[in-house]
Amino acid sequence: MTIRTLDDLLAEGVSGRRVLVRADLNVPFEKENPGVIADDGRIRAVLPTLIALRDAGAAVIVCSHLGRPKGAPDPRYSLEPVAGRLGELLGKPVVFAADTVGESARAAVAALAGGHVALLENLRFNPGETSKDDAERGVFADQLAALADAYVDDAFGAVHRKHASVYDVPARLPHVAGRLVLRELEVLSRLTGEPDRPYVVVLGGSKVSDKLAVIEALLPKVDRLLVGGGMCFTFLRAQGHEVGKSLLEEEMVETCRNLLARGEGKILLPTDVVAATAFAADAGHDVVDAEAIPADRLGLDIGPRSTAAFAEVIAGAKTVFWNGPMGVFELAPFAAGTRGVAEAITKVDGFTVVGGGDSAAAVRALGLDEVAFGHISTGGGASLEYLEGKPLPGVAALEH
Ligand code: 3PG
Ligand code: MG
Repeated sequence: MTIRTLDDLLAEGVSGRRVLVRADLNVPFEKENPGVIADDGRIRAVLPTLIALRDAGAAVIVCSHLGRPKGAPDPRYSLEPVAGRLGELLGKPVVFAADTVGESARAAVAALAGGHVALLENLRFNPGETSKDDAERGVFADQLAALADAYVDDAFGAVHRKHASVYDVPARLPHVAGRLVLRELEVLSRLTGEPDRPYVVVLGGSKVSDKLAVIEALLPKVDRLLVGGGMCFTFLRAQGHEVGKSLLEEEMVETCRNLLARGEGKILLPTDVVAATAFAADAGHDVVDAEAIPADRLGLDIGPRSTAAFAEVIAGAKTVFWNGPMGVFELAPFAAGTRGVAEAITKVDGFTVVGGGDSAAAVRALGLDEVAFGHISTGGGASLEYLEGKPLPGVAALEH
């Protein structure tokens, strides 16, 4: 199986051709200011592909989803603010089409000269994008494909979705993988192949159930698996400890007990946690033993002793994959665990990968130097599904 690349398309010549680029511009907005982009990492990540096409004279038509609107226009999920930011980053205004395959999109594309970039409105405003019905997706894919002469997939964050723009459009147009998708696949293949050892995986985030498949897939391959974040409490419960009002997935306790038994000492849990009286920045909080979380408290971060222990394991690693924050890093009193782990990863003398929207956003929100990491993935679910060994519809669609 081979995948044709952007360079193959550029070598054919794209001057004056209309190229549809599926990007993942699903950026977070500020909570208090909807429409104000909180983190533009995903926009910046697709620039190399867009610039290469534009500079080669293509008429570049960019499409993406944002959030999870329900198949109809919803102004809260408009991509218009993204068009503005994309234009700033490209140094040239981006034409914004107020629909995806309607009059506005067709007019924008018809008027788009080579060397210019247009962005279509949110793909998920159309029910055909995410439909489970092949025919319904197909109709939408036909309309999208009609806008262009070639297709580039650079939406790594969406390759695990069997959606019209990801899975069905490439069947209808000459198709290649963009620079971001190629780089992401290359990096992740290093993690599933023969990684340099010790290979340490750090997992956080709120739910064990979200990470179960990746834990199952990685446990046999890793040397150490460090578990923090909300999910650590279900593991602590599985060891027989009371976790107070901390996040707990009761139905996963038995599963965690089995994982701990099978993990043969590979799984490292926190030994202390920051326990608060409430889920709030101004809540009273103390560091307590992970084995003695008071009944009326909830753990919102791993404690300093655990952070130091995790950092020590990370310091000895040659390969690190990190997905999911260690605590509620958005609230300053509960950010130290995530910061400590992230800083330890930046110092590793080896290959390090940050996977996932939240962990990538944490790196930037905490003001850490992005270049100190080997790779910061733009895909949360996508990178996990890759590591789980699941087939990715968006990648399968690119194969020849
Ligand atoms: C993401 O944020 O993980 C990607 O943009 C995919 O979004 P989705 O989970 O809504 O499909
Ligand atoms: Mg997601």
